[in-house]
Amino acid sequence: MDSFLPSPDCDTISKTYNGQIDSHLIQKTNEGYREILPNLPRGKGWMTEHLVQYQGVWLTPNFALKGLMWVHDHFKPRSTDIFLATFPKTGTTWLKALTFATVNRTRYGFADHPLLTTVPHGCLPFLEACPNDLDGFPSPRLLSTHIPYTLLPNSMTVNQSCRFAYICRDPKDVLVSKWLFMNKLRPKELAPISLEEAFELFCQGISHYGPYWDHVLGYWKASLETPEKVLFLKYEELKEEPSVVVKRLGEFLGHPFSLEELSKGVVAEIVKLCSFENLSNLEVNKSSVLKLSTQIIIDNRHFFRKGKVGDGKSYLTDEMIKRINEITSEKLLGSGLVFGS
Ligand code: A3P
Repeated sequence: MDSFLPSPDCDTISKTYNGQIDSHLIQKTNEGYREILPNLPRGKGWMTEHLVQYQGVWLTPNFALKGLMWVHDHFKPRSTDIFLATFPKTGTTWLKALTFATVNRTRYGFADHPLLTTVPHGCLPFLEACPNDLDGFPSPRLLSTHIPYTLLPNSMTVNQSCRFAYICRDPKDVLVSKWLFMNKLRPKELAPISLEEAFELFCQGISHYGPYWDHVLGYWKASLETPEKVLFLKYEELKEEPSVVVKRLGEFLGHPFSLEELSKGVVAEIVKLCSFENLSNLEVNKSSVLKLSTQIIIDNRHFFRKGKVGDGKSYLTDEMIKRINEITSEKLLGSGLVFGS
């Protein structure tokens, strides 16, 4: 604990998303991007007009694909880096808050904590947004990514001992959460996507960073092979026993809770601070925005909807539930990973 250097504060982090990536650095990425883009398969987009398929993964061209290429071209991982890796709508916001609060717990008091005035996404740089100045951040850096494990550069997975905390969620809840979220962000000139259409696309794997099941399995397998590097969590378990999961998270991140902290209720304070009820009712999360790039500006309130387990089923027909459960069983067969019904 003593050797721990705190991450930069949230203000510093939000300044990294200024949409003005160092021009000579991005040039190489832009050239590579322009070269491959015309030849990539296209599918219907949820938030953008279309997605492109790159090495088996569906990505928004201008943001996620470019971001991925930038990571390969320019990102210099450190062995002390900690990544929160997620598929969108599986609990990224929540895990970001919990991780930030856990790692920085000796730095901030709960009464004037940065999470009371900053959306969790403003507390951890998002790698694909090509944040500036990462090289200047003190170690250990807390970063987040949606990149599937299989598409990460070797420099992050093999050559360095970076750690990844990954969270997954029942695919039915992910689908519905994503459908509602993406329609809110979809430009007005594009007609909203119907649930039927979103369902078909999701089942075919055509959704940001999809197929979902491949994303989950990539991190699942890595967590079995290198448990010291990849912590695999489920949204449902976090909902059921948040304190147990936060203790595991602390241990995994190299910041285990001491007996004194446990007896003082520090874990319970973190759980309360990061709870859906608390975060979703904060002024910053009701009225401010997150600027990820010059084009991507998201109302913070969209990151908080219901935060419930099983809500997806109330939108889907019995037939849809049956089909998605069948796909899930088929995809996860033999992996040892299961989701509830
Ligand atoms: P719902 O749409 O089902 O409500 P992500 O953060 O990956 O974008 O995921 C968003 C989902 O997590 C949304 O699910 C959102 O409501 C839920 N969520 C956000 N903050 C949460 C929190 N503190 N606790 C539990 N769920 C949370």
